[in-house]
Parts: sequence; structure tokens; C-alpha cells
Amino acid sequence: MLKIVKAVIVFATLQDIVLARVAPDFIKACPAITPACLKKNIQDTLPAFIKGVPSLNIEPTDPLQLMVKDFEPQAGIKLSLDGRMTGIKTCIVDSAKYEKNILDIDLHCNITIKGKYQASGRILIVSINGDGDAKIKGNNIIVNARLKFEDQVRNGITYHVLKDTAVKHRFGDRVHFALTNLFKGNPEISNAVLTFLNENWKEVAHELGTPVVNLAVKRVLDIVKKLFTSVPKSELFP
Ligand SMILES: *[C@@H]1O[C@H](CO)[C@@H](O)[C@H](O)[C@H]1NC(C)=O
Repeated sequence: MLKIVKAVIVFATLQDIVLARVAPDFIKACPAITPACLKKNIQDTLPAFIKGVPSLNIEPTDPLQLMVKDFEPQAGIKLSLDGRMTGIKTCIVDSAKYEKNILDIDLHCNITIKGKYQASGRILIVSINGDGDAKIKGNNIIVNARLKFEDQVRNGITYHVLKDTAVKHRFGDRVHFALTNLFKGNPEISNAVLTFLNENWKEVAHELGTPVVNLAVKRVLDIVKKLFTSVPKSELFP
């Protein structure tokens, strides 16, 4: 009798170990990794994921703190930014497919960055020497991400970790810049420069926006990476 009880206890304990899931409940794997299931799955996972997953040390991504100091997006321009990016929660997944360890995702999002900035140098043909508030809004930013995975075994458990990432983006709608004090102490020149930046938003977004988007993408991918490094492959790709 005692033996049976012991056996039951051992079995129950083993089962607890086997059943212990690392992934939070909101992550549901696709039974078959079809584009339709992936697209829906990633979209459905987004609202919970962006809030962060404390058990996996995954911080929130919306809002996302963005801080750069003396960043040089282009030769001759120096930019510091202490801001918050919002809008990942608006992202709509347009397509997703997984083949040969590569996940290809297309999405579009409305992104806003708000905070304090300092910038000096030359943008297109204007010189700026600014220090003030910044709000930059880009609607319909179209992103294509190609994420390459590889298996990695740790303590006998296989993880499917992110190995390489390549992200492309383009601005689907105009980008709006609202920056105060672009030319320190001179409101008239500041306003004229701001008007110029907005009239030439495409070139400005290319020169200044692209490095900032790349920075934000890197932050987000570093966070996404943690998910695949902490959750065993069997829970994500059954
Ligand atoms: C982005 O904002 C525009 C304008 O407010 C809206 O029409 C569009 O549906 C939004 N797109 C997303 C992906 O939220």
C-alpha cells in the first residue's frame, strides 16, 4: 500500500515537471504552422505581449522607452532623444509565413514618439540647433521583418532562438513633426525650420526617421528574442 502511495506521489511529481509550461497562457502555438494560423496567432498575441511578461523578464513594448545620446543618424547631425514610443499595439499583421527556419512578417502600424530632444547640425539645407519637446507621428509605417531561427540546446532542452534579423520599413503616410525650439532662442526661425521639415517630410523621415526606426526595431527585437530564448521550442513549435 505504501509503495502504491509512493508511486502515485512520484508519478504526480513527474507529471508536474513534464507539464510545467514556461510560456505564459496567452501564447498558443499553431497546431500546423500555416500562414493563416501564424497571422492570426501573432495578431492575437500582440496585445498581451506588449504589456510585458514579468515571469520571462520581458518588459513592456508599448509604450517603449527610447533614449539615445549624441546619436549621429547622418554625418553632421547629432541627436539626443529621451522619449516614449507608442503604437505597437496598433500594428496590424498583414501576412506571416514560416519556412526553413525563417519567419517572414509584414505589418503596418501607427507610431508616435514623444519626448525631449536635442539636435544640432544640418538637415537637408537647414541648420538646426534645437533643444525642446518633440512629437513625431508616422501613420501607416509598413514593416517587413525576416527573422531567422536556429535550434539551441540548453540543459537538454531545445530552444528555437532568433539568430539573424533583417527589417525593412517604409513610410506609407506622411510623417508629422512637432518640434519646439529648433533654433534655440529664436521662435521665428524655429517655426520656419519646422515648416520646412514638414514640407520635406519624406527626405527628413529618410535622414532622421530611418535611424530612429532602426533603433526602435532593435529594441523591440531584443525583447522578442527573450521570448524564444526562454520558452522551449516544443511550446512554440509543437
Ligand atoms: C492609423 O491611423 C489612421 C488615421 O487615424 C487610421 O485611419 C488607421 O486605421 C490607423 N491604422 C492602424 C494600423 O491603427
